[in-house]
Amino acid sequence: MKPALTLYLAAPRGFCAGVDRAVKIVEMSLEKWGAPVYVRHEIVHNKFVVDTLAAKGAVFVEELDECPVDRPVIFSAHGVPKTVPAEAERRNMIYVDATCPLVSKVHLEAERHAEEGLQIIMIGHRGHPEVIGTMGQLPEGEVLLIETAADVATLEVRDPDKLAWITQTTLSVDDTAEVVAALQARFPSLVGPGKDDICYATTNRQAAVKILAEKIEALLVIGAPNSSNSKRLVEVGRNAGCAVSHLVERASEIKWDALEGITRVGLTAGASAPEVLVDEVIEAFRDRYDLTVELVETAKERIEFKTPRIFRHDT
Ligand code: F3S
Repeated sequence: MKPALTLYLAAPRGFCAGVDRAVKIVEMSLEKWGAPVYVRHEIVHNKFVVDTLAAKGAVFVEELDECPVDRPVIFSAHGVPKTVPAEAERRNMIYVDATCPLVSKVHLEAERHAEEGLQIIMIGHRGHPEVIGTMGQLPEGEVLLIETAADVATLEVRDPDKLAWITQTTLSVDDTAEVVAALQARFPSLVGPGKDDICYATTNRQAAVKILAEKIEALLVIGAPNSSNSKRLVEVGRNAGCAVSHLVERASEIKWDALEGITRVGLTAGASAPEVLVDEVIEAFRDRYDLTVELVETAKERIEFKTPRIFRHDT
C-alpha cells in the first residue's frame, strides 16, 4: 500500500506575464521569419523552455557577434545593456526586444534619476543578466551595485545628497527591505521607488510560499539553478521553517529520501517554469503516494503584456 501524502499546490506559481510574452515573441518570430531565429541569452532561465524553442528552430547564443547579420535576433526577458541594440542597429540586423516591461520600467527609472543628476545604487545579484542590462542603461560609474545590507557601509558615492536606489525585479522582498533600511539610514535624502522594484510575480510567489509554509513540512520549487526568483522561493521556504526546501528542475531531480516520513509537501514553481513540469512532478508523487492535491490560492493574477508592435503590423 502506498503511503498517504498531501501536496499543497501554491497559486500563483509558474509563468509570469513577462515570461509568457518572451516565449511568445520567440514563437511569433519563428512564424514570421522562419528558422533559424537567434536568441541572445536563454530567453528565460529554464532549460525545458529553451530546449523546446531550440527544437522549433531558435538558436541560443550568449553574444550578438555569434549571430549572422541576416537573421533576426531576440533579446531575452532579462534586458540588455544599451550597447546591444546599438550594435544590432550598426550591423543592420532585425532585432526584437523581449525585455519584460517591468524590467524596462526600472531602466526608465534609472535614466530619469540620472537626468536629474542623481547617482544610482542598484540592489541586485552581481553577474545576473538583468543587473548587467539595467546597469548598462547608463555610463559606467553611474550605477553602483550592492547585494546585501553589509555592502552599504563600504559604498563610496559621489555626493551623499544626490542618490537614488533601484532594484532587480526578482529579489527577496524581505532581504531587500533590510538593504533599503540600511541605505536610508546612511543616506537620508535618498530617492527611490515607492516600496521597491520587485515585480508583482516575484512578490506574489514569495507571499504564497509564506502562507503555504504554515501547512507543510517540506517545499519543492520547480525552477532552474540560474533562475533568481526560483532560488528566492527556496530561501523563503527555508526562512519560513521548512527544514526541507529544495529547487528541482523537474521530477527526476526530486530527492525522495529527503521526504521520508513527511506527509505534507508544498509545491510551487518559479516564474520561468512551465506548468507541464508541475504536472510532471504531481504525477511522480502520484506514482509513489496515495496522493491528495490541495490548491492554496493566495492571489489571482490577471496581468498580460502586449507583444511588440512588429508582430501586430506587417513590417
Ligand atoms: Fe517580468 Fe517579473 Fe516575470 S520582472 S519577467 S514579471 S518575474
